[in-house]
Amino acid sequence: MQDLGLIFLFLLLVNAVSGIETEVVESVSVIVGDSVTLQTEVTQIQSPGLIEWRFEGYLIARVDSDSNKRVQAKVTEEFRDKLQLDNQTGDLKIRNIRTADSGLYELDINSARGSSKKSFNISGVLDSASDGMNVVSVMERDSVILPSGLSKIQREDQITWMFKGTLIAVINKTAGIFSTYDDVLDERFRYRLHLNHQTGSLIITNVKPKISGLYEINISKNSSRYTTHKTFNVTSIDERRSCRFGMTEGENRVSAMEGNSVTLQSGVSEIHRDDVIIWRSEHGDSIIAKIDRGKVFTTLDGADGRYSGTLELDSKTGSLTIRHIRTEHAGLYHLDITGNRRTIFKRFFISVCSQNWFRYVMVVIVVAVLLLVVIGAVVVIRRRQTQNENCSVI
Ligand SMILES: *[C@@H]1O[C@H](CO)[C@@H](O)[C@H](O)[C@H]1NC(C)=O
Ligand SMILES: *[C@@H]1O[C@H](CO)[C@@H](O)[C@H](O)[C@H]1NC(C)=O
Ligand SMILES: *[C@@H]1O[C@H](CO)[C@@H](O)[C@H](O)[C@H]1NC(C)=O
Ligand SMILES: *[C@@H]1O[C@H](CO)[C@@H](O)[C@H](O)[C@H]1NC(C)=O
Ligand SMILES: *[C@@H]1O[C@H](CO)[C@@H](O)[C@H](O)[C@H]1NC(C)=O
Ligand SMILES: *[C@@H]1O[C@H](CO)[C@@H](O)[C@H](O)[C@H]1NC(C)=O
Repeated sequence: MQDLGLIFLFLLLVNAVSGIETEVVESVSVIVGDSVTLQTEVTQIQSPGLIEWRFEGYLIARVDSDSNKRVQAKVTEEFRDKLQLDNQTGDLKIRNIRTADSGLYELDINSARGSSKKSFNISGVLDSASDGMNVVSVMERDSVILPSGLSKIQREDQITWMFKGTLIAVINKTAGIFSTYDDVLDERFRYRLHLNHQTGSLIITNVKPKISGLYEINISKNSSRYTTHKTFNVTSIDERRSCRFGMTEGENRVSAMEGNSVTLQSGVSEIHRDDVIIWRSEHGDSIIAKIDRGKVFTTLDGADGRYSGTLELDSKTGSLTIRHIRTEHAGLYHLDITGNRRTIFKRFFISVCSQNWFRYVMVVIVVAVLLLVVIGAVVVIRRRQTQNENCSVI
């Protein structure tokens, strides 16, 4: 026992002298199809210095800096498509994780200051819903959710959302920060970005063509040395160009007679305090009614004033009523409910039958009925006449 104690003390001394840290294995479980970045925790490679990555003992990547600060970063040929190496920090990004990528990733850092070792044990977790790039198609003016994959954000989680490399949203649960940056990139995201505070999912409302592209979410914990990523390829489709006039899922069709009232049901029994409810109409792409976290409660006239005095918003359910509806109100309507705990999108298609058209149809029906009566009468009279003729022959 005493011998063991001495050996342990000796090892401890050797470690302290040579600067070798004891090896730690960090467990990393990644959904198959997602990506992961393993962090060296080096901010800038030392000169001279060497960072090496091995997978199951096989060298896959290295960053080498000589005493003249000339840096060479190299990924082993057969892993070129799979790996991305940061030439400053030595961080290793493994893209599109497959179950075959599971295993032990070892990191060696060597510099004049000493050396350190670290290991990451990656296991690829299967999730039938995910396979590499998440491809998302969304109709223009519709809304869409990009799921974080988390069922609930943990206290230590830090989340960032990027669009084409630009930061558009940040969540720092510890600091209570849930921020979206909708003023970046010529304001194409103005009023369109929302976050689900429960899951960290990104919500984009009233989709425009310019928001098509690659979205990436980074999820990390302050206590771990890796970041997981999900990528979404979002394409907005022009509905008019795609010639798609059928019913879409979640679309409600409403027909109304000109002059009557129509109520578009939100489907929500009660508004939550944190809900933002927005009604949009295709006319001028405008917001026509809004409830903002119970504070602002408005109906608007629309871009060209066509809704002036016709709208009524139910403060309990968020349902919208259009009074004295006119043919110019016909068309597509969107409802977006974005709250901390729920997200609901609905689209309604209203068709309005004009009174004139109604009268015209009624006249046609009356004329048709009259015609039938006349024809019937003529037939009956003719039959009677034929019978009489037959009688006279006998
Ligand atoms: C690191 O990589 C970037 C982009 O690949 C490149 O522009 C830069 O010159 C590299 N830096 C060094 C020191 O090799
Ligand atoms: C890595 O994780 C797998 C699955 O969790 C486990 O079976 C294996 O023993 C671990 N390997 C190491 C070296 O920790
Ligand atoms: C999150 O907030 C905590 C506490 O304010 C801070 O220490 C940390 O640096 C923040 N993380 C990021 C990524 O900004
Ligand atoms: C997210 O991860 C990618 C890949 O590692 C990195 O290039 C990017 O800077 C990260 N974004 C943020 C905001 O940390
Ligand atoms: C990470 O954040 C949590 C929550 O604030 C804190 O308790 C913990 O000490 C932090 N861990 C590290 C390694 O900074
Ligand atoms: C994203 O989708 C578009 C349209 O389907 C395609 O043209 C593009 O190549 C995709 N981008 C990537 C990086 O896969």
